[in-house]
Amino acid sequence: MSNALEQLKKYTTIVADTADFEELTKFHSQDSTTNPSLVVAAAAIPKYKPLVDDAIKYAKSVTQDKKQQLTLAIDKLFVNFGVEILKIVPGRVSTEVDARLSFDTAGSIKKAKELIQMYKDAGIEKERVLIKLASTWEGIEAARVLEKEGIHCNMTLLFSLVQAQACAEAGVTLISPFVGRITDYFKQQQGGKDFVAKEDPGVISVQGIFNYYKKHGYKTQVMGASFRSKEQTIELAGCDLLTISPKILTDLQQADASLVTKKLDASTLPSDIPNKVVPDYKTFIWELNNNPMAHFKTAEGIRSFATDLGKLEKTIEQLLA
Ligand SMILES: *[C@@H]1O[C@H](CO)[C@@H](O)[C@H](O)[C@H]1NC(C)=O
Repeated sequence: MSNALEQLKKYTTIVADTADFEELTKFHSQDSTTNPSLVVAAAAIPKYKPLVDDAIKYAKSVTQDKKQQLTLAIDKLFVNFGVEILKIVPGRVSTEVDARLSFDTAGSIKKAKELIQMYKDAGIEKERVLIKLASTWEGIEAARVLEKEGIHCNMTLLFSLVQAQACAEAGVTLISPFVGRITDYFKQQQGGKDFVAKEDPGVISVQGIFNYYKKHGYKTQVMGASFRSKEQTIELAGCDLLTISPKILTDLQQADASLVTKKLDASTLPSDIPNKVVPDYKTFIWELNNNPMAHFKTAEGIRSFATDLGKLEKTIEQLLA
């Protein structure tokens, strides 16, 4: 019998928002991602210990320098997880560039190339890897350079049209605009009151970006991310991709197929889509600064990614000692 998840899959590529190997298998995820908090959680599970041990061994074999060992061990650990994930998913795996490089274009490019080289050494071609970068001006500029060299990017921490416009102009492969984190912000602003999915500012933001991209003929894929409810995902049926947590995937499986109709459609776009804008640096910074939600959420996200990485570093430092 068909359910809401099966129906949604007719319009949209669905990705399970987890790095848990079993969940990825269970939901037949197309792509997947690794990030510091997922890796910290997974590394504590005995089954994954060999991946950690291998990363430590590798780092020690390359250098005696403690600081370099730490960086190498962490990069290798991400790649080891990525390689395992690629044995399960048929598509691509995203691997995050150190969030502390979010305002460092050259540093981000260098780190991305090192990760791609490590994948290559492990027998994985760059076509199956997405480099995940924050949607800051510097991150987007890094993506522009990387894409020219055939290294594909997944732009994260994206909360506004101006960030999406800059990403599209940079020719990035994929953006993952957030829904739920936008909802959280505005929900808090109105004293905790919920939104119906149709009027949800997070949903509206992603719909706007999708429509803008299709109207102006951009090839960059839109992958809605960070959902709080199945209703939010249903409002985005027709989006190129959606990444959804196992909990909400299960809710969708238990819901009726008739709940899902195609909501986003490149062939029937609304008439009120903004004209094309090619933001330069000062426009980008100005527009982002004028959007308190996007400005705050981007900064907060970078801080939290950096904190997660710090935690992973603490764990790895102990293992290297
Ligand atoms: C892109 O990054 C987001 C996080 O922003 C992640 O949830 C998603 O799985 C990644 N997409 C792919 C295709 O790896």
